[in-house]
Amino acid sequence: MTRRYAGCALVWAVCACRPDAAPADKQRTHETGSTTPSDGGGGDDGGGDDGGGTWSQPMFAAPPEATDLDDRPDVIQVSLVAQAISDEVVDWPTRSVLPIDGRGYNGSLPAPTIRAKVGDTVIIDLLNEMDDPTTIHWHGIDVPFGMDGVPMMGVDPVLPGESFRYEFVVDKSGTFWYHPHFDTANQVDRGLYGAFVVEDPDAPAVDRDIVLLLDDWREDQSMPADADMVHGAHGAEGLWTVNGLVQPLLALADGERVRLRLINTSNQGYVALSADGGLTVTARDQGALPSPEVAEVEVLAPGMRAELLWLPGAGAPEVLWDRAWSLAGGEAFGEDRVVLDLSFDGASPSASVADWPAAVEPPAADPSYTDWVYVFQGSAHTDNWSINGEQFPEVTIVEVSEGSETILEVRNLSATEHPFHLHGLTFELLSRNGIPPAQRSVHDTINLALYDVVRLKVLADNVGPWMLHCHILPHAEGGMMTVFSVVASE
Ligand code: C2O
Ligand code: CU
Repeated sequence: MTRRYAGCALVWAVCACRPDAAPADKQRTHETGSTTPSDGGGGDDGGGDDGGGTWSQPMFAAPPEATDLDDRPDVIQVSLVAQAISDEVVDWPTRSVLPIDGRGYNGSLPAPTIRAKVGDTVIIDLLNEMDDPTTIHWHGIDVPFGMDGVPMMGVDPVLPGESFRYEFVVDKSGTFWYHPHFDTANQVDRGLYGAFVVEDPDAPAVDRDIVLLLDDWREDQSMPADADMVHGAHGAEGLWTVNGLVQPLLALADGERVRLRLINTSNQGYVALSADGGLTVTARDQGALPSPEVAEVEVLAPGMRAELLWLPGAGAPEVLWDRAWSLAGGEAFGEDRVVLDLSFDGASPSASVADWPAAVEPPAADPSYTDWVYVFQGSAHTDNWSINGEQFPEVTIVEVSEGSETILEVRNLSATEHPFHLHGLTFELLSRNGIPPAQRSVHDTINLALYDVVRLKVLADNVGPWMLHCHILPHAEGGMMTVFSVVASE
């Protein structure tokens, strides 16, 4: 059944009456040549513009790890303070610096990585020291609705100066992330995000487990949504960073087994990752794949994650590339860009993948009926985006009962790609344009290429009015968002 929702738009944007333009001090624009690393701006990397350290390739740095304030073994307690941060991105290949009027947690861009293991209770105390309300959404983790960070239907945002305690149990492993769900396109764009790793005690061991948060930055982060700025869409591109660094160099040793946990935190940019000889993908956004896949290109739309197994040694690839990708049609004409450089000796052999699970688990059979159809439409020219012809918050709520299995068909009828994202629940991909995936494939975010029709199976195992939206955040803000509600069965 369905019902109408025309609630508060605050769940996404600040408010309809908010002046469109950000205050003048938020509109810092970098003019090439007028800013040097030595003129202040919060950089802590010192000056040194004469062939010194600033313009050389930075070494890879992982985000800080969150401190667990609780000494019980099954409880993780973290405190996060959301605040304004001024920072800069050093584009060393072009010898320019992009000042960032950022927002971050605990003074750090990117924010600390929260690590837990399956079954842990996680407690996060958020203190909002920003001038605007905020919330935290735990992307990909199924939490109770009151903990989901979506300020609607009785849940309030965390006002400036206020705090809120999030508490939930993590019951599955994977690479997840956290970000605000209030004024989302703006706050995420300014840097409010961090990785949330839930470790799987049964996963094959690796020597190093590395988090890589991919984001793109442009001259004015406060710019209103402009689809023309999406990576590759019409040629204009932002400056991509890995944990805030442009093309960092990651030093590895031959024979190590390395897990790279990649998260696309950009609010609208895509990456299409590749490496010579292919990428070994061991997990996607809902955890380990039944068996690793070798992917020629791994497309990460905003919100999506992938775990790669990297085996440095003789003949192993030394560069993680980003291929040219167009939101108006996929692989595009253009140059590959370096995302990450790796250095290792390459004289001795690589470790093996031998103990990784090898049994392919087939996808669920498609029952061929459809419970609900979602049609994604809109235009970058008008910036009007809709699902089934409706724009949030004037939407029809689909209601399903707890425990039921629902088959969704999602159709992209617009001339741009969209990452379809569902809160509170996960879904299995049954088919894309009639073709089932090679193995069972469970997601919380899935990319819709042009005119794609994807069929998904959702198990309604978590009660609540769950957001269903495009994870190109300016599209969500432009209306491409609705509510899929799981109602308790009495
Ligand atoms: Cu990461 Cu509603 O989103
Ligand atoms: Cu979209």
